Amino acid sequence: MGTTNLTISPLSPVIGAAIGGLDLSRPLSLEEAGAIREALLRHHVVFFRDQQLSPEQLKELGRSFGTLNIHPYVRGMTGHPEILEIIKEPSDKVNFGGGWHSDMSFLEIPVMGSILHAVEVPEVGGDTLFASQYAAWEALSPGLQSVLSGLRAVHSASEEYGERGQSSRKRASMDSEVVGPDTPEYVHPVVRTHPETGRRGLYVNPAFTLRFEGWTRRESRPLLDYLFEVSRKEAFTCRFRWRPGSVAFWDNRCVWHYALNDYHGHRRHMRRVTVEGDAVV
Ligand code: SIN
Repeated sequence: MGTTNLTISPLSPVIGAAIGGLDLSRPLSLEEAGAIREALLRHHVVFFRDQQLSPEQLKELGRSFGTLNIHPYVRGMTGHPEILEIIKEPSDKVNFGGGWHSDMSFLEIPVMGSILHAVEVPEVGGDTLFASQYAAWEALSPGLQSVLSGLRAVHSASEEYGERGQSSRKRASMDSEVVGPDTPEYVHPVVRTHPETGRRGLYVNPAFTLRFEGWTRRESRPLLDYLFEVSRKEAFTCRFRWRPGSVAFWDNRCVWHYALNDYHGHRRHMRRVTVEGDAVV
């Protein structure tokens, strides 16, 4: 197929672009994968419409961009442990991913990208929001940037997947582990240099960042809250409305996302593969 018919239409000046003219169910050529990666680096999250993907084809798509991750706390699809089935049944109250976060920053080597495919979505509601963490960093004063450049932060799944966490809440069709106090903590720089673009972005998030290294939680709270407020400013976001067959591919190294939970009584079924990343620098 090649990239001759490929179109790239930005959703906002800061973040997000729709890609047309590609059939993701076929193995991507090097040229096609390169064009998607280039668009991802430029727009941070890219969207596709009307893609019919079997579980095998979704994994094949993910493998065009790296090795697939197996989630440590959420059981994958039967026969496809690399695929997370993100399902909210009409009877469920809490959705998965319903708070601002960067996927799996609680790992020692956090994941690079996530590819989400919509199988079944409500007629209205269940949109996903994305926020550029480059834009958040660039909005800060030189004084605060200089303080943050010397800081590292502690990340863990202990709260979000803990007894009172949102991700570990019981959902009819998902199986998440409830983690204990011995859940590992890893330290990452607060300001991350993207390994491919060289741009700097904030790398803390409300779901998994507990405190600054060497600071107490109470001392960390006001500054973390301020950074979280900047990180989700409306001007740094875009919003995607799903249809069955839509695909989003986002770069967790510079993007936060948020799955809206505004469709109670309706079913939403998504499949996600997550591509392994590099150490945070
Ligand atoms: C997630 O990966 O956090 C879920 C996003 C979504 O379901 O929209």
